[in-house]
Amino acid sequence: MTHRSQLRALGLFDARVPRYTSYPTAPVFDQKIQGGFQAQCLEQIDISQPVSVYVHIPFCERLCWFCACRTQGTTSLRPVEAYMNTLETELSALGETMPNGVTAAELHWGGGTPTILPAPMILRLSEALNRTFPRAEGYEFSVEIDPTLVDADKIAALQKAGMTRASVGIQDFLPKVQDAIGRQQSFDATKASIDALRRAGIHSLNTDLVYGLPHQTLETLDATLEKTLALDPDRIALFGYAHVPWMSKRQKLIDEADLPDDELRHDLANLAADVFVSAGYERIGIDHFAKPEDSLYRAAETGQLRRNFQGYTNDTCSTLIGVGASSMSRFPQGYVQNAAATAAYTQRIEAGELAGARGHAFEGDDKMRARVIEMIMCNFAVDIPDLERTFGSAVKVLEPTHHAVLRDFAPFVIKTETGWHIDPKGHPLARIIASRFDAYSMGTAMFSKAS
Ligand SMILES: C[S@@+](CC[C@H](N)C(=O)[O-])C[C@H]1O[C@@H](n2cnc3c(N)ncnc32)[C@H](O)[C@@H]1O
Ligand code: SF4
Repeated sequence: MTHRSQLRALGLFDARVPRYTSYPTAPVFDQKIQGGFQAQCLEQIDISQPVSVYVHIPFCERLCWFCACRTQGTTSLRPVEAYMNTLETELSALGETMPNGVTAAELHWGGGTPTILPAPMILRLSEALNRTFPRAEGYEFSVEIDPTLVDADKIAALQKAGMTRASVGIQDFLPKVQDAIGRQQSFDATKASIDALRRAGIHSLNTDLVYGLPHQTLETLDATLEKTLALDPDRIALFGYAHVPWMSKRQKLIDEADLPDDELRHDLANLAADVFVSAGYERIGIDHFAKPEDSLYRAAETGQLRRNFQGYTNDTCSTLIGVGASSMSRFPQGYVQNAAATAAYTQRIEAGELAGARGHAFEGDDKMRARVIEMIMCNFAVDIPDLERTFGSAVKVLEPTHHAVLRDFAPFVIKTETGWHIDPKGHPLARIIASRFDAYSMGTAMFSKAS
């Protein structure tokens, strides 16, 4: 059997499994969790440990057809201004609920498009955040940047606000692909933004690429990869296109007949990985690459790599506080998601409530399974003594699953002295293998392809 047919037999091209940016995954969250649970978690924050803060800006000037992010299109700044007022009110409410002395070691602005904010609004949001979450020493502040919606004033404001990292969306440089996903973006505009970000002192710059988009071929992707390498990013995220039109309605504008088939998708991912590794990047987890001197690679090397709602990170804070519509928080007690629609979020905040509208309180062996799944997604390996140090003899309940994984995914899953690991040739199976440790049986149709 060829390598590809082995992967096929193990379900790579058919399985629809979560990306495991949390466990349990968001579809498991329910509405029993509301602002009351969120308030309890906030009150119990241990102020000796800095937290991580995520702020969601759910607006874009353009709505790219391929995009599955939670966002809405606007050409006017009026809804953005109103949202800024609500964010300030939410931050005050968080500040009143948390004990005094909470500090932030990590700050992340994502979206949507944070760079839709004009410079004065960037500074206003940063000041509001600093009031509620004074920054811990050595903090990192990262921002998702749309290179077609950023200018010198905005970058100067972000620099003044203390931005240390940036993530720039590219997806694909070929005009034919860009036309098919409703997102035009020239190489020159992208390069100009990246050069300006570097001049503003960004020490770690990520670029997002997507494979599996309409009209992509090995030749066209190769050209996009070369152009991306010319931009010399410190990190590269290479996402497989998640085609989920039942969740993201605008994807219906994409003609499915133009999408690469499963085999080509697999070849596209492999081509990109080969090109990046030959150029000196290290593979990180299932879909990231980093230069050896970048902190993401150092985290992977030292077992500090983590996976949270934003994907791979070297952020090790045990509490993540989500601010804004649809943002997710993770507390030692469980997950809370803010009301997803901007109107529902605003209504809660204006009524003087916290914005939590659904979530999950950890119970039973949730945390242990979450850690096993994180180990698989980050390290492609499970270390049983490491789990025992945290969870004691409770880890025994997973023994049958370890055995089943070793049996079912041979020869890709290999026993080690302390547990097992996935051979690099089997890394594309990581999400499928992780799903064996998922105790919540959700319908699978809602998830994107495993490949
Ligand atoms: C919030 S967006 C990026 C920030 C900014 N709005 C921009 O467009 O440059 C985050 C990233 O998610 C990825 N993404 C969005 N929809 C996706 C999908 N359907 N499949 C795979 N990746 C997707 C894209 O790579 C995108 O850059
Ligand atoms: S890719 Fe970025 S700009 Fe495009 S719709 Fe998604 S969040 Fe908005």
